[in-house]
Amino acid sequence: MNVIETIKEMQQTIITLRASGNRIGFVPTMGYLHEGHLTLMRQARKENDILIVSIFVNPLQFGAGEDLGAYPRDFEQDCVKAQKEEVDLLFYPSVKEMYPSASSVKVMVTDRTDVLCGRARPGHFDGVATVLTKLFNIVMPDRVYFGLKDAQQVAVVDGLIHDFNFPIELVPVPTVREKDGLAKSSRNVYLSPLERDQAKELYQGLQLANNMIEEGERNPESIVQLVKGHIEKHCDGVIDYVEIRTYPELKPVETIVGKVILAIAVKFSSARLIDNLILEIV
Ligand code: PAJ
Repeated sequence: MNVIETIKEMQQTIITLRASGNRIGFVPTMGYLHEGHLTLMRQARKENDILIVSIFVNPLQFGAGEDLGAYPRDFEQDCVKAQKEEVDLLFYPSVKEMYPSASSVKVMVTDRTDVLCGRARPGHFDGVATVLTKLFNIVMPDRVYFGLKDAQQVAVVDGLIHDFNFPIELVPVPTVREKDGLAKSSRNVYLSPLERDQAKELYQGLQLANNMIEEGERNPESIVQLVKGHIEKHCDGVIDYVEIRTYPELKPVETIVGKVILAIAVKFSSARLIDNLILEIV
């Protein structure tokens, strides 16, 4: 595995690899790698000739008062894990390399940002779309792999690829969970032991909703109230949102039918956790 820190070297390497007909699979991350990230890498490894992973904690997608400074990092361990997954190139740029001066152009996401995580994190998806536009131009991948744990991000990236005509295939990957159902996340390390135990209730709440929908409930408000009640009863965390929307458009839902997402966000003392369930009701 080669670690590349400059944009110039990355682009030159990719141009050579592409010229010899290699298909490039790309997994962008912010590091502190866990099974969620590694699952994306495994799938990309299987489906492409070359596997590229980036590790870059992107300041642009963190709001004031968010956890940019405290975001967990462990580059050495990340290298060991990436090597095991047979990553060919690890792109590890500095902030200065990615943003050398105040930028003159930024990407603005105009749809789907005033709902779910976008509402609580203004500017977050603009930061994600801007860094991904740069990374797509640097890595020039054929396929990119994103986790459905961040389902709104997948929807935004789908829009970015479509609207800006990137010749890239987006591959969404199902959420990887701990044994008790908690979605794996770099931020889980912030949870106290008690919060870690309570955090499984997010998934339990989603499962309750799933059962109720399977039994025929089609009223989104009833489902939302059920999930809210469950989380309030079992968690000290504060609910940021519990919402049902169409997926991937993220429009409001009056009756649960077609492809919908039930998404939740709960703020614990030092970690905000998200999870979701995507359902297709015929
Ligand atoms: P990060 O949070 O490091 O996540 C990198 C990728 O791993 C994302 O596509 C995310 O959805 C996926 N992922 C995280 N936890 C997962 C889980 N439990 N199961 C499946 N996939 C999971 O998302 C970002 O970084 C950034 O916003 C980024 C796209 C790199 C842009 O800066």
